[in-house]
Amino acid sequence: MTTPMHVDVVQDEAALAECAADMICELVTTKPDPVLALPTGDTPVLTYERLVRRESADSVDFSRMIVFAIDEFLGVPRDAPGTNSRFYRQHLRLRVRALHIPNPSAREPEAHIRAFAESVRRLGGLDLCVLGIGTNGHIAFNEPGSGRESGARVVDLARESREAHAAGFGSIENVPPQAMTLGVADLLEAKRILVLAQGEPKAEIVRRAVEDPPSADVPASWMQAHGGVMWLLDEAAASHLRG
Ligand code: GLP
Repeated sequence: MTTPMHVDVVQDEAALAECAADMICELVTTKPDPVLALPTGDTPVLTYERLVRRESADSVDFSRMIVFAIDEFLGVPRDAPGTNSRFYRQHLRLRVRALHIPNPSAREPEAHIRAFAESVRRLGGLDLCVLGIGTNGHIAFNEPGSGRESGARVVDLARESREAHAAGFGSIENVPPQAMTLGVADLLEAKRILVLAQGEPKAEIVRRAVEDPPSADVPASWMQAHGGVMWLLDEAAASHLRG
C-alpha cells in the first residue's frame, strides 16, 4: 500500500534551510524532549547553521532534545576527518541532551549498530527522522538493493557514495569501503519523516523516489509506504517532478 507523499517546494537552499529549521523548532516547541534522527551531508549544513543561530538568539531551547545519527563509516577512528562524528561536532553545535553516533571503530560492528537501533526503540522511537537522499537513491547508507524490511547493519558502500565523501577523507582510496547504517525498516518506524533535497543533480533521483513504483533500486522510494513523509525540495531538485 502506498500513499502519495507530501512535497513542498521552496525557491532555493536558503529557503529550504529556514523551512527545515522551522519544522524542527516547531517540534521542540510542542514537545520539548523529542527524539530526532539527523543526517550528515552537504544538504543539512545550512539548516544546522540556522538552528545554532536560533539557539544563540535564545529563541529556542534544544537542551532536552535527543539526537541520533543515522549512519557512520566503519574501520576508522572516531575523530578521523571525514567521519560523521566529525561532521556533527563541526556543524551541529547545539546544546542537546544527548547526541548518539555509532562508533566507527566498534569491534563488533553488526552487534553495535543493531544495539544502536534498539536504543532508539527503547526511547519510544523517533518523533522526527530528517533524511537526505544520495544521487543513487540511498537513504542513510541504505544503498540500492536495500529492501523495505532491511534492518540496522553493516553495508558495503556504493562507488557513488565513496566518491561523494572523497573530499572529506582526502581521497577516494581513504574512504572506508564499509559503513554502519540504520535500516530502511528502522527509518520507516519514525512517526514523521522529513526528506531534504536541493540542486539539479538530485532532480531525477527525487522524481524516481517520489513518482516511480517503490523498489530496492531506489531505496528512498520505500518511503511511499509511510503516511507521514514530507519532501522539502528547492526548485532545482523538484524540476523533474511531473505531478
Ligand atoms: C550521505 C549520507 C546520507 C546523506 C546523503 C546525501 O553519504 N549517508 O545520510 O543524506 O549522503 O548527502 P548530500 O546532502 O551531501 O547530498
